[in-house]
Amino acid sequence: MKKIIGIDLGFGFCKVFSDNGIHIFPSVIGPCDEAALKVSGLKNPAFEHETVFLDNRRYLIGESAVKYADRVYLAREKDWMETSTYRCLLYHSLRLAGVYSNTHGPENIVITTGLPVSHYRSCRVKLVDLIKKMVHPDLSVKVTLQPLGSYFDFFLDDNGVVRDKELISGRIGIIDIGFYTTDYVTVEDLDLVRNLLDTSEGGMSSVYQDIARDIYSGYGVKKEVYEVEKVLRDGYVKVYGEKKEVADLVRPRLDSFAREIESTARVLWKDGAAIDRILITGGGAEALKSYLDFYKHTAFVPESQIANVRGYVKFAGSLRRHD
Ligand SMILES: Nc1ncnc2c1ncn2[C@@H]1O[C@H](COP(=O)(O)OP(=O)(O)OP(=O)(O)O)[C@@H](O)[C@H]1O
Ligand SMILES: [Mg+2]
Repeated sequence: MKKIIGIDLGFGFCKVFSDNGIHIFPSVIGPCDEAALKVSGLKNPAFEHETVFLDNRRYLIGESAVKYADRVYLAREKDWMETSTYRCLLYHSLRLAGVYSNTHGPENIVITTGLPVSHYRSCRVKLVDLIKKMVHPDLSVKVTLQPLGSYFDFFLDDNGVVRDKELISGRIGIIDIGFYTTDYVTVEDLDLVRNLLDTSEGGMSSVYQDIARDIYSGYGVKKEVYEVEKVLRDGYVKVYGEKKEVADLVRPRLDSFAREIESTARVLWKDGAAIDRILITGGGAEALKSYLDFYKHTAFVPESQIANVRGYVKFAGSLRRHD
């Protein structure tokens, strides 16, 4: 029995899917130094599970980095694959998936992951080498394009069998709304339609930034981008211990981001008539669901934040069945 692991290292969140369960954590690391230890105390159990040693330094990963590190490093740099941040996030993801405590033997492990369309050509081989170096040269590594994960998730069932044979042979548009970026791709016959692609720098983080500014000017309370997520989830911000509803402040910001997405989509696909289905995915799809109804043949991918990673696993599973 093969162990198939999906890893989706987004600029905002890392998603890991395997027989060890689903893990989602912020793509953030920070030095695990005196300052962090002082704040949180030595006995914090998070340190056991969310630290990584790399190049003789100790780092905090994910939620712990957001909470305790005095400085943080984000994954969003130009040569991100070369950075300590990227390698720490990858190592932690592999560890969460259980590759270092597995009884399968490296030849029975399949790791599937994706790269953003813009990085695919330049980074694919490097990524395969990096993963093999971190785990074992004999394991199998498959790298695809990030938005294709959601495509496979939508079209394949849990057994890797195609759900809708007619639709999959059509022309499918995908909008992947992430934390820093939003990707638009068009797929036909399992291949990208080259002149119908786009990536925009805006993602949910730009909405959170605007909302953080509104909260500051309205209530005088400063919120970091990652904290705004929680405010949205809770629906309120606390001011002098009193809960203040944020719905009226959030609605116009989400709506204006949705209109931005709409106008980019319309440049690519016009009225959408030549596209057979538009899939909307990425974590941002959950937040924007009720604002994105401009095409009548839109489908929202369920549990969209993990759709890419779940799709990688389904795809790798279906390939194995045809081996
Ligand atoms: N159920 C939900 N409701 C509201 N927002 C959500 C939900 N699930 C995820 N999100 C938000 O969606 C955003 C995008 O998450 P996602 O994991 O897709 O980004 P990413 O892949 O890291 O980004 P990028 O594509 O820029 O690399 C995050 O801000 C996340 O908090
Ligand atoms: Mg993503």
